[in-house]
Amino acid sequence: MKERIIIFDTTLRDGEQSPGASMNAAEKMRLATQLEKLGVDVMEAGFPAASKGDFDAVSNIAQKLKKTEVAALARTSKGDIEKAWGAIQHAVKPRIHTFIATSDIHMQYKLNMSRDKVVNTAVEALKYAKSLTDNIEFSAEDASRSDRDFLCKVFEAAIEAGATTINIPDTVGYAIPGEFADLVKYVIDHTPNIHKAVVSVHCHNDLGLATANTLAALNSGARQAEVTINGIGERAGNTSLEEVVMSFHTRPNYLPMTTNINTELIYPTSRLVSSITGIIVQPNKAIVGANAFAHEAGIHQDGVLKNPMTYEIMKPETVGLSASKLVLGKHSGRHALRNHLKEMGYDLSDEELQIVFTKFKELADKKKHIVDEDLEVIVTEGILRTADIFRLEYLHVISGTTVFPMASVKLAINERSVQGAGYGNGPIDAAFNSIAKLTGTESELLRFSVTALTGGTDAQGEVTVRLGEKGLIALGRGADPDIITASAKAYVNGLNRLEYLKANPVMATT
Ligand code: KIV
Ligand code: ZN
Repeated sequence: MKERIIIFDTTLRDGEQSPGASMNAAEKMRLATQLEKLGVDVMEAGFPAASKGDFDAVSNIAQKLKKTEVAALARTSKGDIEKAWGAIQHAVKPRIHTFIATSDIHMQYKLNMSRDKVVNTAVEALKYAKSLTDNIEFSAEDASRSDRDFLCKVFEAAIEAGATTINIPDTVGYAIPGEFADLVKYVIDHTPNIHKAVVSVHCHNDLGLATANTLAALNSGARQAEVTINGIGERAGNTSLEEVVMSFHTRPNYLPMTTNINTELIYPTSRLVSSITGIIVQPNKAIVGANAFAHEAGIHQDGVLKNPMTYEIMKPETVGLSASKLVLGKHSGRHALRNHLKEMGYDLSDEELQIVFTKFKELADKKKHIVDEDLEVIVTEGILRTADIFRLEYLHVISGTTVFPMASVKLAINERSVQGAGYGNGPIDAAFNSIAKLTGTESELLRFSVTALTGGTDAQGEVTVRLGEKGLIALGRGADPDIITASAKAYVNGLNRLEYLKANPVMATT
């Protein structure tokens, strides 16, 4: 008999704490819809007290989702809990998630609170949360570096005050699998009322052990895993959903556990998260990296041709990784496009469909085969980024071996057109200089990378930029069959994201 594990996805909250990964409201909503389709049990939609933007995004998600439980994060203050509840109260199943640190180092230096004060603060917060809902999660931040008996005391008081899930975070990614498994077992064995709550774990990946620690904890009796898609999150990230879920699939003898995840949606969801956040998935990333199912050595290739199981422990199709399918072509009509987008999870209004259809036709003129990845980019760029301040209207570049590279650019800035030109060391530098002049940006380009969106020489180039300005970091992404245009789009997207961050300052939580 397999144990059912609750998958608590925090891509929209801890994941969004990855440097540069801020998402706008439309992007968050798109991702939330996809996570529901993927089958996560609980979705932590955000931290409503952090900003008005976060509150609104969580509230919209809570009202839209049809079956997934929606959690909102709150510190142990009445104000935070009120905001969290305000944002999720209309969800089909709302959950308040409140937290306070329990390690000596955090209590002394960050909170300046005694142990008793921490217990009382947690209890007061939980009692208040209990007056609003029965579904409450309590996290003991930095649990893995906390005194074990004190941790059990806090959890006992938390459950008594109304917590229905108690979470053991390895906040700083310090734990080692055997040690963490032992800690979870200790908590289960030494918290008298533990049977009244679900035990959860939340691991960070600072030592590259987040998945290992999570699996070890589940083997010790934890029944909820807190995860993110692609493992994105604060610093080195969180436990990745795909690694945990596929470990259950691949090693049922050691991990007799099951989830509600539709594994065939893992790869498309990974792509979506990467395309929305601008965070590239490292090629050697387990399960969803570009090389995860690529066989380089001749002996391996030969073996896989004879029997895939010689070197493949999972089938690529199980995680939704199939060759990009030709979906639509130049002659496909609006109806076929609408139906296909619906299958991909996009329910567009007539006006949105018109925007996508126009861009689809433009792309189909340049590229014969339009696949899902192309459509994903069209929707992300054309629909989800609607609140943009800067929009690229026109780009013309002169470059070659005998001319000094020059770019003419026309931008819409808050829908007012401006144009200008600039020189550079190469065509991309020239385009960026022109855009920088027109926008007056003070940001610095910290990183630039280009890849192909799909296979084939007519594939769209996909460019990611990382911009920094006065401590703020934003990632920008753009795709186009022409990589200079893709670069300009990525730069403009990064500048928009910086503006979004300036307008929506977010408080750090952990
Ligand atoms: O890492 C952490 O401790 C957290 C908590 C808020 C659960 O993200
Ligand atoms: Zn965390």
